[in-house]
Amino acid sequence: MNKIKTNISQIFSQKLLFWYDNNRRNLPWRAQPGEVSNPYFVYLSEIMLQQTVVKTVIPYFLRFIKKWPSIQNLANADFDEISLYWAGLGYYRRAKNLHETANFISKNFEGKIPSSKKLLLTLPGIGEYTASAIIAIAFNKRSNVVDGNVERIFSRLFKIEKPIKDTKKEIFNYSEKYLPKKRYGDYAQALMDLGSLICTPKSPRCTLCPIIDFCRVGGTVNAKLYPKKQIKNKKPERFGLFYCLLNENGDILITINKNQGLLANMNVLPSVGWYEEKKFTKNLLFIPKEESLFNLEWKIIEKKLIHIFTHFKLNISIAVARIDQSLLLGDESDINRYKFVKTKDLNSIALPSLIKKIIKHLQDENIILN
Ligand code: ADE
Repeated sequence: MNKIKTNISQIFSQKLLFWYDNNRRNLPWRAQPGEVSNPYFVYLSEIMLQQTVVKTVIPYFLRFIKKWPSIQNLANADFDEISLYWAGLGYYRRAKNLHETANFISKNFEGKIPSSKKLLLTLPGIGEYTASAIIAIAFNKRSNVVDGNVERIFSRLFKIEKPIKDTKKEIFNYSEKYLPKKRYGDYAQALMDLGSLICTPKSPRCTLCPIIDFCRVGGTVNAKLYPKKQIKNKKPERFGLFYCLLNENGDILITINKNQGLLANMNVLPSVGWYEEKKFTKNLLFIPKEESLFNLEWKIIEKKLIHIFTHFKLNISIAVARIDQSLLLGDESDINRYKFVKTKDLNSIALPSLIKKIIKHLQDENIILN
């Protein structure tokens, strides 16, 4: 019985790998067929892909490897510059970890990415999934790399009736059983490509699927109903008010965010913080109207913007005022923390997407000039 099962899993991986050999995506961090992987490329791409889709990552990845072709180059880079190259990818903690890990690897492992999962897991920014992916893809080690694609594929293959959240362990075990006896890196990437090209979330292309014979829902109208959806609680909302302060030349006041957590130490527009209850922002909106804030004449932007973070939705209000620069910049610490930036220079400082979105809106509305 066990023997038969083993054979089935080997046929499964053979079919999948055959399909992969003929249909693989040409991604810039991937080794060409027959070539060995560049572990730095694999590591860098996996960090970028942690919270960002392939299509977005590609140009960032290409700019990074052009600027820093090796992990030593990245280790020697100035963090401000890395941060500039990272701007727009979001989750800036990843850039910080990338730099720290590059330094550590450069100093302690002669610039070689470790091939041991245990060691990888000790490095900043590398968790279970990333370590599994690196050892499979960069070093072709046996590794069960389970991402959202793999979860979707296996929940269809086995017609799993519960939402993924409740069946992670079960899916992990299934996928472990189906691992091939070699080509671990290709196999992991074959599942990623199958999930992205064929076994897609909304309209799976079952007729093109190389493993349809193994699938309990493949080719039926039910395929797209798996994995079963979690009944969703709405994302919690937060409310924030951002200040756009312009000096007499129309330069915009940017400050370094001193709060820990999201956007820590990034360039931001000043804000009063993000609150869980709308009434706070309502009150905050009155502050400028009462002219109690720096005695300025405030304009409240009518349109409210929305920015979606992983764990909450931020509703954004914006208040704009002109200010005499000398009034604002008081002592030495203010001068270090606040700076007026010319709008033409905004592209050359690292700004989180959220702040870019606000500035773009203000430019579109001609409130600040391009
Ligand atoms: N998502 C995470 N890692 C990936 C990879 N190596 N290729 C494509 N998509 C991915």
